[in-house]
Amino acid sequence: MTNYKRTTVTSALPYANGPVHIGHLAGVYVPADIYVRYLRLKGEEVLFIGGSDEHGVPITIKAKKEGVTPQDIVDRYHGIIKKSFEEFGITFDIYSRTTSKTHRELASDIFKTIESKGGFIEKTNEQYYDESAQQFLADRYITGKCPHCGNENAYGDQCEACGTSLNATDLINPKSAISGNVPVMRETKHWYLPLDQHEAWLRKWILEDHKEWKTNVYGQCKSWLDMGLQPRAVSRDLDWGIPVPVPGAEGKVLYVWFDAPIGYISNTKELCDSQPEKYGNWEKWWKDDDTRLIHFIGKDNIVFHCIVFPAMLKAEGSYILPDNVPANEFLNLEGDKISTSRNWAVWLHEYLVDFPGKQDVLRYVLTANAPETKDNDFTWSDFQARNNNELVAIFGNFINRAMVLTQKYYDGKVPALGELTDYDKQTLEEFVNVKADVEKLLNNFRFRDAQKEAMMLARIGNKYLADTEPWKIAKTDMNRVATIMHLSLQIAANLAIAFEPFLPFTSKKLRTMLGMTTFSWKDLGKIDLLKAGSQLEAPELLFEKIEDEIVQAQVQKLLDTKKANEAAAYKAAPVKENVAFEYFMKMDIRVGTVLDCKRVPKADKLLQFRIADGLEERTILSGIAQHYPNPEELIGSQVCFIANFEPRKLRGVMSEGMILSAEDANGRLVLIQPKVNVTNGVEVK
Ligand code: MF3
Ligand code: ZN
Repeated sequence: MTNYKRTTVTSALPYANGPVHIGHLAGVYVPADIYVRYLRLKGEEVLFIGGSDEHGVPITIKAKKEGVTPQDIVDRYHGIIKKSFEEFGITFDIYSRTTSKTHRELASDIFKTIESKGGFIEKTNEQYYDESAQQFLADRYITGKCPHCGNENAYGDQCEACGTSLNATDLINPKSAISGNVPVMRETKHWYLPLDQHEAWLRKWILEDHKEWKTNVYGQCKSWLDMGLQPRAVSRDLDWGIPVPVPGAEGKVLYVWFDAPIGYISNTKELCDSQPEKYGNWEKWWKDDDTRLIHFIGKDNIVFHCIVFPAMLKAEGSYILPDNVPANEFLNLEGDKISTSRNWAVWLHEYLVDFPGKQDVLRYVLTANAPETKDNDFTWSDFQARNNNELVAIFGNFINRAMVLTQKYYDGKVPALGELTDYDKQTLEEFVNVKADVEKLLNNFRFRDAQKEAMMLARIGNKYLADTEPWKIAKTDMNRVATIMHLSLQIAANLAIAFEPFLPFTSKKLRTMLGMTTFSWKDLGKIDLLKAGSQLEAPELLFEKIEDEIVQAQVQKLLDTKKANEAAAYKAAPVKENVAFEYFMKMDIRVGTVLDCKRVPKADKLLQFRIADGLEERTILSGIAQHYPNPEELIGSQVCFIANFEPRKLRGVMSEGMILSAEDANGRLVLIQPKVNVTNGVEVK
């Protein structure tokens, strides 16, 4: 839409069943916040809506596990999530929740309107029912054997062992997760949104009228539409959610994906109703053709925002449809999919503790590496490198030099501009182009490239100082130095504006240092932002180097998580057949001291031990070389070995016994060693 009066920006409502992590920030909230800050800087009328998604089955499961109510769960995480967003400078106009009264009422009203217009169909089918618990079972509440891989603990919607998505009826030997009983099939009635009836207009609206949507979004919509749309149930048999507001619907609630997107509207309503002077009537943000609606989401939400929600709005009849849905792909962490249940994430509330005051560093790195067109990987080494080589070495360095030199030569006052040289003019030409480029990229939701382009200002500034070398000229030509410093400071002021959407905390610090009281996007590209003679504040470092130990500690934290996950997933092998005592007595297990230990040439698995066994000495080979990279460190320690193990030749060396190790969950071999030294040759019994 090119002619619009205002923009409603929404960002996916995160489920309030856990804290938020870098994947959330990179995929949805940072890009949405950049966009909104940019529009605000341009003086446009914009509303930024957020909130928690507080319904759905996983919340009830978590509550059950912890022995608390679903409301307890969402109260806890809504608070944590809201605080994390605030601390990262995500500037929602409102961050509310789907358990609010306004939301319950509006979601019910929308359901009733669609229902009264004949926009739903009702269908009865059979679903699993737990007779002892007297309730229908959501797919997540049924476990059984996966028909694909045989995993005994697959869920009714997915097998986590092989990743296949399932229907509850696919499971072999289904069991209720509530009572453990075998569920029965029972008839139940539900309301369906007949998406098939919406297919024709959806096809035209997306595939013809919105060719400009990002290719990942357009492509996913096209493949859904090409497969043919089916009616989708919008109610569930569940006791957590918004009751289906029609007679004869006892025990049924609205499906979470029906009520959640309505949360965008109810949160707008809550905000406008509480501050009508400031925000006006809520309906202008949702029902006026001059309003542009934009949804920021992750790729798993595309079908709901591009197909299901628009069909709901169309069926209701009085709402506008989204103008764009700039969905991102996923961010991985150190090569693995981010996972809440496996604790494989960088949690925002933890980052804030580990890196206080460094919100902008994470914002910068997540934007620089944003999964805009494909999945991307967050690594701590990239985090460190971008901080040290870009924020510190380019941005911070330029600002610091400009500030410190002005302090030194002009007592911190902006010197007057003198005559421009050709080189100055050339620099300004490059500099002036940046604005249009950044704008164009931001308008197209290409935040990654936009930030890179904004960074050009700092690169240009740095190069300008390096080439003109004011510290050398200061001995001979202070007029020239004045011009150089004047221009450098104007570039610094431009940086403060250009980076407000990306690095709001840094921009604010910089504006304070430069004494900029007002600023707006239209000032970008100008070189009269700071008046000659105005006083700057004392320079302060904007960024600081992040040392190796700091990122290593984060990597270690992840390695520990991995280990803990492997241990948790480890299933001890079934116990072998019993053996008689005499059998065990035949084994001669002893303790000895390692006299020497070294690698066996050309055998990467073998270590050659020389053991003092209390009688004389013996040589034993053991296949643990990969687990003990410094074998000499074992010299002097004690090990356990089977003394009467049939000697055998390995790689031309006679091995007289077998050294005992335990194999850890992750396959690592660990020597069995007495904690207290004992006499060589004593027996293990
Ligand atoms: N809670 C959903 C998720 O995290 C997103 C809901 S977006 C909304 O995937 F539109 F439904 F609000
Ligand atoms: Zn499986």
